Amino acid sequence: MIVLGIETSCDETAAALVRDGHEVLSSIVLSQISKHQPFGGVVPELASRAHVEALPGILEEALSKAGRSWADVDAVAVTRGPGLASSLLIGLTAAKALSLSLKKPLIPVNHLEGHLFSIFLDPNCPPSAGLCPLLVLLVSGGHTFLVRMDEAGRYEVLGQTLDDAAGEALDKGAKLMKLGYPGGPAIEKAAAGGDPNAIPFPRGLIQQRGLAFSFSGLKTSLLYYLKNHPRALDADNLKNVAASYQEAAFQALTERVERALDQYPAKAFACVGGVARNKRLRSMLTNVAASRGLPLLLAPPEYCTDNAAMIAAVAGTKRNICDDPASLDVEPNLTLT
Ligand code: KG4
Ligand code: ZN
Repeated sequence: MIVLGIETSCDETAAALVRDGHEVLSSIVLSQISKHQPFGGVVPELASRAHVEALPGILEEALSKAGRSWADVDAVAVTRGPGLASSLLIGLTAAKALSLSLKKPLIPVNHLEGHLFSIFLDPNCPPSAGLCPLLVLLVSGGHTFLVRMDEAGRYEVLGQTLDDAAGEALDKGAKLMKLGYPGGPAIEKAAAGGDPNAIPFPRGLIQQRGLAFSFSGLKTSLLYYLKNHPRALDADNLKNVAASYQEAAFQALTERVERALDQYPAKAFACVGGVARNKRLRSMLTNVAASRGLPLLLAPPEYCTDNAAMIAAVAGTKRNICDDPASLDVEPNLTLT
């Protein structure tokens, strides 16, 4: 089954063709970063307008890159939530129109489940049945979850953030360091060659039991550090500040992963979401995997950040067809259950 996936939940306009839930025939992602950069974050009104302008061309590009035509599409999948309501609406409206005109089923998808399925887009990833129970750390700009996947579609949220998401902590930290938006890649770049142990930023909640995350203390600690060290952003110092900030955030993540693996035996573990693109985080998790002798699943970097292939992957696997597309609405606050 060839699924056309559409993703417009935030500031990426994306379309993809995926066969049978894992074989990517094409994946097109248009980032709007340059439109939002002057504002230091995503402006919803600008994002939805940009989706309207870009989506038709992105859909055509997804088909032509895959060497397919509209007649080859067996189903249309779209992100229903969570995300910005006005952005989600553009993708959903387009998907409804396509499903109606092509006379093909419409499959609504939870964006967070899309991130979980991004690991299956790696051609070397074994089928999900052999990996479950699978522990997944989902770290994006809006969410930070530790999830146990018992099978595709059956999840238990073991822990989540009490305040900022991991990506949000990086984005806000980068703003304080005047590194621009999006913050995760900017901090990764600035941290190159820096000493990750130069400044002892707090590892949120690390003393407490449980699997919750907290990043607001880290951000506040950076704010005070910068106030008290006026030369902290000089080139020689900045790399140490960036490396130490990133390290504190990632140690908070890996410590929770270790704790979850202690509490809930898993056959494998995975890390997904935009922050999973980070090379330092990938290497820290690789060390955890090696010390425990457990397989670690990481999506190819291009499928960590928002994309439509992961949306088509969920749809092609679960085939959860909507029987009343006309009354389907966006769900900006959708979560994982
Ligand atoms: O999954 P994603 O593309 O969108 C959401 O669903 O939120 O994640 C975006 C987040 C942003 O906070 C961005 O700063 C972070 O992922 N990110 C990174 C890297 N690339 C993107 N964080 C750390 N290192 C990166 N290389
Ligand atoms: Zn996302």
